[in-house]
Amino acid sequence: MERTLVLVKPDGVQRGLIGRILSRFEDKGLKLVGLKTLTISPELAERHYAPHKGKPFYEGLVRYMTSAPVVAAVVEGPRAVDLTRSLMGATFGWQAEPGTIRGDFGLSSGFNLIHGSDSVESAAHEIELFFRPEELCAYERDLDRWIISSDDG
Ligand code: RTP
Ligand code: MG
Repeated sequence: MERTLVLVKPDGVQRGLIGRILSRFEDKGLKLVGLKTLTISPELAERHYAPHKGKPFYEGLVRYMTSAPVVAAVVEGPRAVDLTRSLMGATFGWQAEPGTIRGDFGLSSGFNLIHGSDSVESAAHEIELFFRPEELCAYERDLDRWIISSDDG
């Protein structure tokens, strides 16, 4: 079972899309085990996007991510990292396939609604940046026996 970090970015919150975006993960069969609203500080944005430091879009990215509140969620399930990335779609709305979150809700290169960790390793690091262990709630769902089979890990 994997866990990954999802952020509904400032544009997603401002546009009233929190519920519609997070419901995609529940619809898929993934489980929300952590959830909070917060305004990201410049320090947190810099730590979260440290791998992009020095790239031409970095300063604008930090400004965007700190401009208004976000929703942070920890999503759990088999292959949660890769499934989350495929539900999100390609980085920019104009290139993302219809049916994905970015493909259905946006067209911009500046605003792209959602973040998802890109590997199991970065997920573990990013979850630690946004959540204390006691803020995550492990729980069983009765319905999971009809959603997750023994083949799914
Ligand atoms: P994210 O990390 O936010 O989930 O997005 P991603 O993996 O799809 O894209 P990534 O390459 O990690 O880039 C992080 C965020 O930086 C902005 N970006 N702008 N103007 C540009 O060329 C450019 N490239 C990236 C986007 O907000 C992207 O989500
Ligand atoms: Mg990324």
